[in-house]
Amino acid sequence: MTAEELRKQFPILSREVYGKPLIYLDNAATTQRSESVIRALSDSALLHNGNTHRAVYALAGEATRAYECARVDVRDFIDAASVDEIVFTSGTTASINLVAYSFGDKFIGSGDEIIVAESEHHSDIIPWQLLAQRKGAKIVVMPVEESGALDLEKLESLFNRRTKLVCVAHVSNVLGLINPIKEIASMAHSHGVPVLVDGAQAVAHLKVSVRDLDCDFYAFSGHKMYAATGTGVLYAKKEWLEQMPPFIGGGEMIDTVSWEGTTYAPIPFKFEAGTPNINSVPTFVPAIGLIRSLDGSEAAFGLDKIKNFVYNALSSDERIVLRGTTQNLDEKVPLFSFSVKGVHHEDLALLLDKQGVAVRSGHMCAQPLMTRYGVSGMVRASFAPYNTQEEAQAFILALDKSINMLK
Ligand SMILES: Cc1ncc(COP(=O)(O)O)c(C=O)c1O
Repeated sequence: MTAEELRKQFPILSREVYGKPLIYLDNAATTQRSESVIRALSDSALLHNGNTHRAVYALAGEATRAYECARVDVRDFIDAASVDEIVFTSGTTASINLVAYSFGDKFIGSGDEIIVAESEHHSDIIPWQLLAQRKGAKIVVMPVEESGALDLEKLESLFNRRTKLVCVAHVSNVLGLINPIKEIASMAHSHGVPVLVDGAQAVAHLKVSVRDLDCDFYAFSGHKMYAATGTGVLYAKKEWLEQMPPFIGGGEMIDTVSWEGTTYAPIPFKFEAGTPNINSVPTFVPAIGLIRSLDGSEAAFGLDKIKNFVYNALSSDERIVLRGTTQNLDEKVPLFSFSVKGVHHEDLALLLDKQGVAVRSGHMCAQPLMTRYGVSGMVRASFAPYNTQEEAQAFILALDKSINMLK
């Protein structure tokens, strides 16, 4: 399948903005939805809508089956050992907060330390700060080098007997660099410390095996991998989920309830209180199907070429400071954040928008990393397999034109 063929499955990609063809380069914020995903969402609402796990009638059975089929597909997608290790949430943010409250309340106490990478998204910083405030624990920052790579030697020196958790993104949403999770997990485990991985930017681009990575927790969002919004996953090793107390209490997460005391449902249901996102969770199935269909495709190959082209164009332009640099582009996903000397990131993004190019600008929910690089914000262009080489070229031309207008 070529990028052109793939694009036809995404109705929104044929629309225009300001009379110009839309060039959508904010895939790291949210990917677009394919017809198959939109159909799964509408079929669920139009034909199979019933509350899951509760009733005996046909519609409820269909809704429950669709929801649980998605769990099986997600298990397979990230190579987890069991469906019991797949908890559905509303997104990466909710998944990380679940761990911060549940694991944090049980296993982290006063004086304990949580190592968090300097390049994390706020979703992987604030839950730990809130936990630290609740418990009197301490956040220890794992620094990044100038290139954006994590400083693993420094990481080794951060462990001590109070270290209780390491939190790190598989791929930073600013740098696009693939962090060495296997090495980090192995180092952390040698100190008896579990690892939480924020996989929000990884799942659409990398083949993830949580068993191979040997991480303890892996969080991601459906909407960044073509599924519907309001869907997310927390993968956690069974041994953790079984020890962790419930986070939110309510319907369907219980076994028995009485005034004398309540017992809880087995995992993963213990962590899925209340009516779940019945209509949206089934969209994981076509979304995963789409990602699988891209494996070895011309569109995937084309995206690699785009990555090389854009990286070379940005890194060779003296006006541009590109962040997340590497000698080996296999260590980077097609996501590029940069600043232009003397130009405000928002002005640049506005001028690009007027030319039909949608990019992200601002601090990208990573203010500590912006501070590390001494800027208030950057521009980010993030590509997906439905982007074409022509779009990449048009972006570079539009960028050049915009910089010339602003300089
Ligand atoms: C690395 C990373 N972590 C977490 C998030 C938060 O994801 P969500 O808003 O879907 O919960 C994002 C979203 O941009 C992200 O890029």
